[in-house]
Amino acid sequence: MRVVSGIQPTGNLHLGNYLGAIKQWVAMQDAMAAEDDCLFFLADLHALTQPVIAADLASNTIEIAAALLASGIDPARSILFNQARVPAHSELTWILNGTARIGWLNRMTQFKDKAGKNREGASVGLYTYPVLMAADVLVYQATHVPVGEDQKQHLELARDVATKFNTDFDREVFTLPEPLVSKAAPRIMSLRDGSAKMSKSDPSEMTRIALTDSDEAVAQKFRKARTDAEALPSELAGLAERPEARNLVTIYAALAEISSEAVLADFAGQGFGAFKPALADLAVAKLGPIRGEMTRLLADRGAVGAILEQGAEKARALAAPTLRAAQVAVGLQV
Ligand code: ADP
Ligand code: TRP
Repeated sequence: MRVVSGIQPTGNLHLGNYLGAIKQWVAMQDAMAAEDDCLFFLADLHALTQPVIAADLASNTIEIAAALLASGIDPARSILFNQARVPAHSELTWILNGTARIGWLNRMTQFKDKAGKNREGASVGLYTYPVLMAADVLVYQATHVPVGEDQKQHLELARDVATKFNTDFDREVFTLPEPLVSKAAPRIMSLRDGSAKMSKSDPSEMTRIALTDSDEAVAQKFRKARTDAEALPSELAGLAERPEARNLVTIYAALAEISSEAVLADFAGQGFGAFKPALADLAVAKLGPIRGEMTRLLADRGAVGAILEQGAEKARALAAPTLRAAQVAVGLQV
């Protein structure tokens, strides 16, 4: 098994990123056998597809690496690096740009969402983003790729690219990667609107818990989270029409690592006056140590950079044979 996944180093990480992605990565790492590999990277090249501020990109890369380390990604067991330090990603992307079809990219819903109405003004990088993502996983012969629901279409494209390349050049250069959309990965919604996902692009800070929020900020955001006036039900079905209440129960369950049913079994009949402080205490207990460890790591940014560089060195070695096989297949090398 070879697990590969990436996260863009844009903006501050929030509770949705932590529960929906990072915690799943740590769980994968912890479940892996000794002969398996986990590669996790900061997708700094992908970040170039949107307007960039150089100093922010560089500091976000280190900060998100620190968040991953603080959350339990262990560089002794997982290969942690940033994409730009492994040139094979870019080199393979160009080769795969010859394989991917415009028609395939035209169907990508994320491009349509991110480009919005101004499609003519979007960067070419935003358009070919899925080809770079295909290279990210194919260059390592990834077998499993943990992703959120929104990235499944990109993984399908990676499989199409791999299949077409292997067929066109009549050899098995690439392994077809499987998307792993964890059922355990909850989708966390905004604290102010149960129908919108918690996102770093929401203009209001009150919609999300940042991993860097102080204990007081965490408690205050939960206290002010939108809810209704009813007590919590004893069954999940009772939350069907109450998205804000359901979201808080989901968050509690994910942080406590129990089911939503178990949360309701404990809190049925209680109102938010009791549930919100309990949730805030739990969140502070779980996130406080991560924040503390992040702060400790970020006191020496150079050391975090050194961890990434060691990861990149290992990643370069793993990527080299596949890049070479692809170059040979297309005639760039003999
Ligand atoms: P954002 O929506 O805040 O810009 P990204 O799209 O960069 O976040 O997502 C990074 C990772 O975090 C992805 O794996 C994504 O599936 C996960 N993720 C983002 N938001 C949420 C959320 N609200 N709930 C669960 N997972 C999320
Ligand atoms: N596109 C992914 C996201 O926005 C990040 C990403 C880049 C990725 N390359 C990847 C995820 C390769 C998995 C595998 O969340």
